[in-house]
Amino acid sequence: MSRLDLSVTICGVLLKNPFVLASGILGTGAAILERVARSGAGAVTAKSYGPGPRAGYPNPTVLDWGSGLINAVGLPNPGVEVGVGELLETKERLRPLGVPLIASFFADTVKGYGEVARTIAQAGPDLLEINISCPNVEDEFGQPFAADPRAAAQVTLEVKRATSLPAIVKLSPNVADIKAIARAVEQAGADAISAINTLGPGMVIDIEAGRPILAHRVGGISGPAIRPIAVRCVYDICSAVSIPVIGIGGVLRGQDAVEMIMAGASAVGIGSAVYYRGPGVFKRLEVELSTYMEAHGYARLADFRGVALEG
Ligand code: DHB
Repeated sequence: MSRLDLSVTICGVLLKNPFVLASGILGTGAAILERVARSGAGAVTAKSYGPGPRAGYPNPTVLDWGSGLINAVGLPNPGVEVGVGELLETKERLRPLGVPLIASFFADTVKGYGEVARTIAQAGPDLLEINISCPNVEDEFGQPFAADPRAAAQVTLEVKRATSLPAIVKLSPNVADIKAIARAVEQAGADAISAINTLGPGMVIDIEAGRPILAHRVGGISGPAIRPIAVRCVYDICSAVSIPVIGIGGVLRGQDAVEMIMAGASAVGIGSAVYYRGPGVFKRLEVELSTYMEAHGYARLADFRGVALEG
């Protein structure tokens, strides 16, 4: 397998393989993010920071409902001021490993996004991920910015004005026309797009108790059940824009990552797979992807990236 090259460069940042720990999966702690980097991730994303500390929702916050997961965690985070310290420590630990750090963040106003971006940039992450698509705080924050092309573009512009770091905008699948949103953020200066955030909201009811299981009642759906939707969204986005796309949604195996790359993704986010296959999943994904590439005579990801878009 030595002649294979799984590396990819996104916004000038080199990843030794395309597998990126998705945001929100293993929190914001430096030690756990370092562990994922050591276990073979190409890049790691910390859970989203916001303007101030938030406790999040009471348990249960995450549930395996049989064909996927459902979550409403409620954006718990220590706030961006504390976040800078955590990210600095994470960066220190990742540097010798050559694994880039992606800092995700959210806010409740356009101006707030600019302010959080300015603060978080002090930690010097390799990339920023602008989370405009959390579906779990609609009752508190209103409709996600990702639901409207103008709002999505305004947030992107504000962040680009606030910092010179490359910015990835994370989109929602819960929209009628994801191409329009993708074009709007590209035009506003987004350096890359990640898609998708969770689908929904959905609800799972405990039929003995006669009430929803999640404390928040509704939550975002992830895992294998949403993969075809994620692949379609990535395909649509890649047919509409020319900036790189990180494809996320139900990728459990290396073969699933091939689908994402054939739909045009440059890199592939890994979330629920950490639950299904454990934190050692990154090495296994790499072996599975390599095995596929060897069998098909592909030496690098570019050999099959976007082939499904052609013709
Ligand atoms: C949460 C869920 C998301 O899908 C997201 O993008 C951000 C936060 C949460 O419930 O914490």
